[in-house]
Amino acid sequence: MADALDTGAAPPRRALVTGAAQGIGRAIVAALLDAGHRVALLDRDLDGARASAAALDPGASRTLALGADVREPAQVDAALAELEAAWGLPDVLVNNAARSAGGRVLEIPLDEWDDVLATNLRSCLQCCQRCAPAMRQAGWGRIVNIASIAGQQGGVANGAHYAASKAGMIVLTKILARELAPDGVTVNAVAPAAIRTPALEALGPERVAEIADAIPVGRVGSAAEVAAAVAYLCSPEAGFVTGATIDVNGGLSMR
Ligand SMILES: NC(=O)c1ccc[n+]([C@@H]2O[C@H](COP(=O)([O-])OP(=O)(O)OC[C@H]3O[C@@H](n4cnc5c(N)ncnc54)[C@H](O)[C@@H]3O)[C@@H](O)[C@H]2O)c1
Repeated sequence: MADALDTGAAPPRRALVTGAAQGIGRAIVAALLDAGHRVALLDRDLDGARASAAALDPGASRTLALGADVREPAQVDAALAELEAAWGLPDVLVNNAARSAGGRVLEIPLDEWDDVLATNLRSCLQCCQRCAPAMRQAGWGRIVNIASIAGQQGGVANGAHYAASKAGMIVLTKILARELAPDGVTVNAVAPAAIRTPALEALGPERVAEIADAIPVGRVGSAAEVAAAVAYLCSPEAGFVTGATIDVNGGLSMR
């Protein structure tokens, strides 16, 4: 058989992006819309999700804004039920919603640990559990988990709870990728570092300049650069890439 891309059938896709109201999530929505997908934007900031949807899809024909706090399983279930009723469950899922948190290990409050893990990691598990069975049944699906350099080598700006949640996403990605590989569903992670978003800007211009100085390419990254990697992983052409973690970090860490 001649070498060929195993693209499978490529009907219009339904994507779900969590944490889509701003920053990297919003850029991922834009990239997936560009790639021809319909995109549901889930965020606890429903007004922000609606505003991003309206800006990126002025006709409102290819976006759907969903309000849910991903720490609350019942809210996620309700949002997914709303999506299922409107479009059907997604065949492309991007787990992007997260909170950051700093502090020294010995001083992390246990409730803050739980909150970070629930926001960043348990929500990823819940969305995968809820969405993957339909992908599996359809014989095609794409899951992309937005991890972080912190999950690979520990964070500098963030604490151990954030880093542990992101390391957990990377391992969850590999194990789920193996489980779903026979069914045409790929599961990958993207590990950004120092991307210019509201979360990074909150560190202040001096700290952002210091961070840029430490990066081999000499600047921080853009949300669009992360989104381009995500769009590739969600594409039909990425069917032979699974269980991978793609670094988008300006060379800050090389493996
Ligand atoms: N910006 C960076 O430099 C950087 C680096 C590495 C990894 N990341 C990862 O990229 C992703 C996006 O980061 P960002 O910089 O765009 O963040 P951001 O804070 O700008 O945006 C996060 C979005 O998630 C939403 N969100 C947060 N908690 C939520 C909750 N409990 N329920 C529902 N929605 C919630 C927020 O409302 C917001 O719209 C995150 O997973 C983050 O860990 C970012």
